[in-house]
Amino acid sequence: MSQSRQIKRLADYQAPAFLTHSIELEFVLDPAATQVTAISKISRQGAHQLPLMLDGHGFELLGIWLNNVPLTDYQQTDEQLVLSQLPDEFELKIVTQLNPAENTALEGLYLSGGAYCTQCEAEGFRRITYYQDRPDVLAVFTTHIIADGKSYPHLLSNGNLIADTLLANGQRRVSWFDPFPKPCYLFALVAGDFDELTDSYTTGSGREVALKFYVDKGNQQRAVFALESLKRAMLWDEQEFGLEYDLDIYMVVAVDFFNMGAMENKGLNVFNSKYVLANPQTATDVDYFNIESIIGHEYFHNWTGNRVTCRDWFQLSLKEGLTVFRDQQFSAAMGSPTLCRIDAIKTIRTAQFAEDAGPMAHPIRPEQVLEMNNFYTVTVYDKGAEVIRMQHTLLGQAGFRRGMDLYFQRFDGKAVTCDDFVQAMQDANERDFSQFRRWYQQAGTPQLRVTSAQDDALASFTLTLQQHTDATADGSPKLPLVLPVRLELISLDLSYRQQHLLVLTEERQSFVFEQVPANVRAVVLADFSAPVKLLQQISLDDLLFIAANASDGVARWDAMQQIWSDLVRQSVVAAHPVLIPASLLAMFRQLLDQPLDDLEFTAELLALPGFDTLAEQYPQIPVDSILDTLQSFRQQIASQLTAELTRCYQRLPRQPYQYQSMQVGIRKLQSLCLGYLAQAISATVISQKNAAADSDVITQLLQQHYLQADNMTDRQATLTAAVQAGLDLAQPLLLDLLEKDGHDPLIFDKWASLQVSLPTEKVFELIENIVNYPQFSWNNPNRVRAVFSAFSHYNPQQFHRADGRGYQLLASIVGKIDHSNPQLAARLVTPLLSWKRYDEARQLLIQQQLGQLRDQPGLSNDLFEKVARSLS
Ligand code: PHE
Ligand code: ZN
Repeated sequence: MSQSRQIKRLADYQAPAFLTHSIELEFVLDPAATQVTAISKISRQGAHQLPLMLDGHGFELLGIWLNNVPLTDYQQTDEQLVLSQLPDEFELKIVTQLNPAENTALEGLYLSGGAYCTQCEAEGFRRITYYQDRPDVLAVFTTHIIADGKSYPHLLSNGNLIADTLLANGQRRVSWFDPFPKPCYLFALVAGDFDELTDSYTTGSGREVALKFYVDKGNQQRAVFALESLKRAMLWDEQEFGLEYDLDIYMVVAVDFFNMGAMENKGLNVFNSKYVLANPQTATDVDYFNIESIIGHEYFHNWTGNRVTCRDWFQLSLKEGLTVFRDQQFSAAMGSPTLCRIDAIKTIRTAQFAEDAGPMAHPIRPEQVLEMNNFYTVTVYDKGAEVIRMQHTLLGQAGFRRGMDLYFQRFDGKAVTCDDFVQAMQDANERDFSQFRRWYQQAGTPQLRVTSAQDDALASFTLTLQQHTDATADGSPKLPLVLPVRLELISLDLSYRQQHLLVLTEERQSFVFEQVPANVRAVVLADFSAPVKLLQQISLDDLLFIAANASDGVARWDAMQQIWSDLVRQSVVAAHPVLIPASLLAMFRQLLDQPLDDLEFTAELLALPGFDTLAEQYPQIPVDSILDTLQSFRQQIASQLTAELTRCYQRLPRQPYQYQSMQVGIRKLQSLCLGYLAQAISATVISQKNAAADSDVITQLLQQHYLQADNMTDRQATLTAAVQAGLDLAQPLLLDLLEKDGHDPLIFDKWASLQVSLPTEKVFELIENIVNYPQFSWNNPNRVRAVFSAFSHYNPQQFHRADGRGYQLLASIVGKIDHSNPQLAARLVTPLLSWKRYDEARQLLIQQQLGQLRDQPGLSNDLFEKVARSLS
């Protein structure tokens, strides 16, 4: 297959020369030869003689008709069809033939298990027929699906069902009509034999909406939680933003083969089964949380993405940043705002900071793209959401709502830009956001340096903020940004507390506060009010004070995080792990013994930052020092606090599983205790004379926790603790899980991910084994990610082995997968891209692997773009 390596630029955007107003599609389904007839009504835009350029590839063209007359005068290139000398208005009929059975890229029309399914975002529709495959062409879609009704009882597409007939040849023909004009990336078709879970929802204005979930046979009950989540999301969007659903039916289909999390096709969401299916035996508390949030996300797209869509793909954050922000607000409203925020911060501080510091750095609105699929990134999504959140912070809840109302009033039914969004926010609030817009143009993570001075005589307190952004790989400018900085001043005796919202707009600014008592402490960047790296010199005692006393839970957690990163930094400098200070251990003791309240938050306070978070704080990542130090800290905690951890574990009551916040807290805190306790008996630490006794007690605790569990969360807690500590009891328990539940693909994935996190060299043998199981398939992204993403992300010890074996394994898998599924390959390769951040020996090892990938014949654009940028 020949690939053109054509870079597309935002600056080159031109409005479409023609518009397609409606399209009628007919699919005659067949695994190897599906025929698609597309009849479009098209008109020229303005006075010009430009040809009509239609995108399309990967199918066979069977015929073209212009106003019902066969057309032979056209040019066909690898990826386009060019039609010249067209009338101003016409009907175009195109017949194509596709091979869904051989479509392993999972874009366009493909088979997932036994079901047909489409994925059109970003540019998958062009694999179905020739079309103007760009989001600013909005058409009304009618879809007819013809298939054997026995094998495929459910024939689904966007909009409302308008006809269902039995044909003379025994086939069924089902027709759908979607009245809302939409870009083709929102088109979907699904055909299969599913279990159906049905319910209904009545909107605030009285529209009754049928809700239908389609899942693999036997899984109906596993969709109940997702369905309930959907109803909560529908209600929340009405209450929070006054947005109602607009069709008579809302369908969600769960498929096992899917490149991403889920897809917001109009009225017919397609989900990765892992974000729909849940019961206590198969899903963890984290899975339940994710399901609710992603169900919300896709639902919220109906307004932010579908009703108002993107003008071009450079504007992706228009819908994704905003919709992530909306799903975060929804999750916060359904549970704990603090915990949701902590979650979001972890994503930014690991993956997003890494992206900004690496070769793929790009602004939330990228300016050039080779392969659009490479820009569904944490920057566009999660940093994009932070940029929306800052607007929310600057305008306040009511001001933000005014901006949203104006946005929909202006742009409903249109394809618009990020600028249009900011303009609506600005106009609705009579604010000037011109400087704020730099957030859309500049890549990179700003550093925010803080210094303070207290003048007791004048009773004043001065805080000086300074911002700086290092150059990034994309070369985008680095001008001062608008940084909303939430601040709390607290006096040591707690008699004084003031909260402020500072807005830093210059490179450096001082803020003076009057009538401030002596001895105040400043909590800077509460709620992580801007996505920056905070640099402040602050003593352990002051951080412990903040951790205990800040009003904002996020700031309390953050103070603990900073304590640990400071200790890691000291260890890196000293070239050996430092001893954990007594005052910090005392804080741990107190938290472990405190009343049973807010347990999930307590568990967050007691958790060490992960390797990835710590790594992002160093330009050159000291891999071995960080890993050794983390290991030492875990073991110090474990051996110093064995009794307290055991007591804490034991006083937490267990109840029959429910996904409910008190219980989630209990499970999380117990899991944390087990994680540390397992370290106390890991082969390397036993030192005290009562070690043998402790060892038996702890082993038994772990085993009982697994054996008595009535749910996956608790089972996984034992397994994670045991694998991480390299305990012998891990293997028999893992085998138990596999034998009892390993037939279920989602459990198989969990089992595989646990196996590959074993921090010893034996993991390579385990991986060879896993890929030979009948449940494993190289063509299924969930299976591949469960092994190889999990390995590269959750097993830093082995992935970063000094002999390069980890890098070599990942690179070889990426090279192999690229032939079948380029999108998946390009995602898997990510951890290798930042090779310049490691020591020289590792740099060489990774560079060599990337070089081999770059030279691989037939390399996809997806992989080429990333590897080439990384090596340049
Ligand atoms: N638009 C989807 C979402 O964020 C993600 C997605 C992108 C899915 C591309 C498939 C392909 O909700
Ligand atoms: Zn989305």
